[in-house]
Amino acid sequence: MSNPIDSHASAEVAARVERRWATVVLAIVVLLVAIVVFTGLHWAFMPPSRVETIDPRSLHERGSEFVESNLGSAVETDGSVTVRVLAQQYSFTPQCLLVPADTPITFRVTSADVIHGFLVTGTNLNTMVEPGYVSTFRTTFDRPGDHLMPCHEYCGTGHQGMWAHVEVIDKDTFMQMADQAGNARRLSCVK
Ligand code: CUA
Repeated sequence: MSNPIDSHASAEVAARVERRWATVVLAIVVLLVAIVVFTGLHWAFMPPSRVETIDPRSLHERGSEFVESNLGSAVETDGSVTVRVLAQQYSFTPQCLLVPADTPITFRVTSADVIHGFLVTGTNLNTMVEPGYVSTFRTTFDRPGDHLMPCHEYCGTGHQGMWAHVEVIDKDTFMQMADQAGNARRLSCVK
């Protein structure tokens, strides 16, 4: 049998240690929340603000926005660029997206089959691509460069081989290429 005075003292020690650990745990939680809030604001994360649906069975039909000849980069009348991309097991079309630097870019991406991921390395562009929905997001690339664009949602046995490139080039060069190509043709860097 333990001495009642001893057990009273050890209960106090236990309570003190418990309070100390509770403080440490609370500090960790506050730190993690602070990191999430800071990175969210710093990277300007945005929750999805709109939902646009599309019938995945109609993607290849004539007149569809995502018909193959309409995929790639198009210059809009306001000088911005719209890039349309189709994801399917196990590739993106086009395989190489060509965009100008210092220009507002709107990506419009949809899937023909299962859920895929759209992520441009070195940027905060990161979204899911779901069949039946058009994922839309805007960005501006500061400078020319080459970015990898891997699918980052597991989409089947070929998932690890599903990726594309984003090539950001000088704005003047891009606009010259767009002029030469004319309105009907979409630009890409597919060789
Ligand atoms: Cu597509 Cu993973």
